[in-house]
Amino acid sequence: MNLKRYLKAQFTKAFLDAFPQLATENFEAEITQSTQSSFGHYQCNSAMKLSKVLRLPPQKIAQAALDAAKIILGDELATLEVAGPGFMNISFSTAMLESCCNKMLQTPDLATDKTASHQKVVIDFSSPNIAKEMHVGHLRSTIIGESIARVLSFLGYDVLRLNHVGDWGTAFGMLIAYIKQYEPSVISDPDSAELPRLVQFYKTAKAKFDEDANFKKQSQLEVVALQGGEKEALKIWTLICQISRKSYQEIYDILDIDLNERGESFYNPYLKSTIEELEQKGIVEISDGAKCLFLDGYTNREGEALPFMLQKSDGGFNYATTDMAAIKHRIFEEKGDWLIYVTDIGQATHFAMLFKAAEKAGWLNPQKTRVDHVPFGLVLGPDGKKFKTRSGDTERLIDLIHTAVEKAQAILEAREEEQGRGLDTEQITEIANALGVNAIKYADLSSNRIHDYQFSYDRMLQFEGNTAAFLMYAYVRIHGIKRQLQEKGIVAQTVPVSLQHESEIALALHLAQFNESLDSIADDLLPHRLCEYLYLLAEKYNAFFRDCRVIGSEAQDQRLQLCELSERVLKQGMQLLGLKTVERM
Ligand code: ARG
Repeated sequence: MNLKRYLKAQFTKAFLDAFPQLATENFEAEITQSTQSSFGHYQCNSAMKLSKVLRLPPQKIAQAALDAAKIILGDELATLEVAGPGFMNISFSTAMLESCCNKMLQTPDLATDKTASHQKVVIDFSSPNIAKEMHVGHLRSTIIGESIARVLSFLGYDVLRLNHVGDWGTAFGMLIAYIKQYEPSVISDPDSAELPRLVQFYKTAKAKFDEDANFKKQSQLEVVALQGGEKEALKIWTLICQISRKSYQEIYDILDIDLNERGESFYNPYLKSTIEELEQKGIVEISDGAKCLFLDGYTNREGEALPFMLQKSDGGFNYATTDMAAIKHRIFEEKGDWLIYVTDIGQATHFAMLFKAAEKAGWLNPQKTRVDHVPFGLVLGPDGKKFKTRSGDTERLIDLIHTAVEKAQAILEAREEEQGRGLDTEQITEIANALGVNAIKYADLSSNRIHDYQFSYDRMLQFEGNTAAFLMYAYVRIHGIKRQLQEKGIVAQTVPVSLQHESEIALALHLAQFNESLDSIADDLLPHRLCEYLYLLAEKYNAFFRDCRVIGSEAQDQRLQLCELSERVLKQGMQLLGLKTVERM
């Protein structure tokens, strides 16, 4: 259960019991987690805000609400006190925390509130462009999108994951013309071509397009042919997509990403009618021959209205057109209650305008459908500049992943040499695969996505600090207790959790806050909050383990339950971030 939400409901009730006149104010109590343990577990600061409305000193208000809350919450609370100018400090009783932990232990989903049941989420992430390499921006979108999708599914949403690949547009005319003229062997033997070759074709074709009028004409004809569904053009286009897809899939497999490809081409049949509908609604304006929407509040630096362009003067459609058709499809055909788009922050204006445009079209009612653009910052290299390889090219993602795994392997081998845990080469390789991939994911997820983050193999592979390795190692230690029990031949009894030591109570409180931390992700879509939660969990577990003897102590079986719950929460949390756990390290 979500403790914060629970307190909010109970304290709202308490305030209303004490001051019935608040019912007309639509009052809701505000509850926050305490920033210091001396302030209790949670705080309520509503009394201060109400002082004006109720014309009473905040301390008086707090005292009255406190008396009412004591009646409602009874022995679920250990302390409830008014502090300073009218803060209310709230701490749960040990019995309440024990009961939370026991409930979590008894349910496979860790007693998560499935408040979101049957709400449909459509999440658009990864979305690379055909015939181009995926770049680190797509890597971020993939990792962040996957994690958000996992959390929302776990919370009970019905999640549709869409890969809105860029697989349509005038660029394909060039590629088709080029392959037909210069590389026809690819058509008969598609397996001979890999993505890097396609990227090369594209570069050469582009250069040709710019200098050779004949080739340009040819390319334009191929676009028309493709859009008209001409057989040969369509065949080559399909091939180009297949070659690209194979290369993306290789990355998705390694990263354990689940996506349904629904590229821009899917919406091609809807583009014309989409624009016609908007014209009928009388909201399309012509600007320099192009069909545009103009939206309140969007101007360029010179103060001129910014067009949301649906059709170019030459009749061609573009990115915005497809997104208009797509948002309509996601609202009316997919019946999405919540639409999410994960891209770099550079596209923030595009999405803000898209949402406004969909509203203007009468498709999007923000009261009914939630829409979010989930933006993220750049990946920076060690020099603090936009991430590039030494040669200045953008690094291939697959190489990036392989390098992380290789480095992880070297680190693990060195550790094995030093500490001799008895891991053989095969085991080390398996752990290195998990660690390398986890490290890349965690480095991305653990920083606030809005900010740029610096890519550093050394930092991401450290065993100390807020890193993937730290969490993996914490898991190994927690899990190791079971092995120790087995080795000692101890059979533990399943007993209810019972908390004595302060470190046990702190750990139990944190475990009970798992649901709350997931719900916060559903609010603001910031996965780094879950990273912080798990990092703190590992620290609180370590403190408990330092302070409380488990095996052989009088409270052994009770404490083993706390270990069991810690293990499950850590594993589940890591799974939601897309991280693998290993049992030895
Ligand atoms: N293909 C685009 C890019 O590489 C991302 C697409 C995002 N999704 C969307 N519906 N526009 O930047």
